[in-house]
Amino acid sequence: MSGRRIAVLASGRGSNFEALCTADLGDASVVLLATDNPKAEALIKAKRLGIEKAVFDPGAARGASPAGMEASIAALLEDRGIDLVCLAGFMRILKGPLLDRFEGRILNIHPSLLPSFPGLDAQARALEYGVRITGCTVHYVDAGTDTGPVVLQAAVPVLGTDTVESLSRRILREEHRIYPLAVRLHCEGSIRLDGRTVHFHGTDGIPGPLASL
Ligand code: GAR
Repeated sequence: MSGRRIAVLASGRGSNFEALCTADLGDASVVLLATDNPKAEALIKAKRLGIEKAVFDPGAARGASPAGMEASIAALLEDRGIDLVCLAGFMRILKGPLLDRFEGRILNIHPSLLPSFPGLDAQARALEYGVRITGCTVHYVDAGTDTGPVVLQAAVPVLGTDTVESLSRRILREEHRIYPLAVRLHCEGSIRLDGRTVHFHGTDGIPGPLASL
């Protein structure tokens, strides 16, 4: 297969992984799922979708360190000729090997409007804080916690009746919409990074897929 080859790293349910597998990504496609959790539901989805899967269990090998695990993941991704790495609910901060070898080629989806509520439990913290609008962000990954350049964001209003579950559900719908779009823009070469600012180029400076945002 020609076209960009994508690996998804996920630790749990894998709904964003599935959204990326089933979306129109132009001539790019997801070819590999890697997980740090042998019980991840994403593995079942990968099997159903016929995507290669790999488990890197940091607790399984004696003396295995998270950095060692990351180096092993990076080696597999290079072996499989991966062009773009998508973190999708991968609950680890990247420490080095992946950042070094895939610089500017790692995306993440986060369930808040960054820079608000980085890190864990973003939806619950948004609700507790009392914000009226939250949402989700696709960003490039750097060495910080959810600090890399922002590619796309979608806003989600917080309703007076919201629970963490209802708010998370509505944010997730937006995640499934903007993540594939950001991946497609990256793979089509429509993104130019200027410092931490992302520029899109296409017809009249407005790329087609963005019209649907
Ligand atoms: C998603 O809501 C994603 O934004 C979030 O974990 C969930 C994974 O769901 N990621 C983070 O909080 C990262 N800081 P999924 O496994 O169904 O895609």
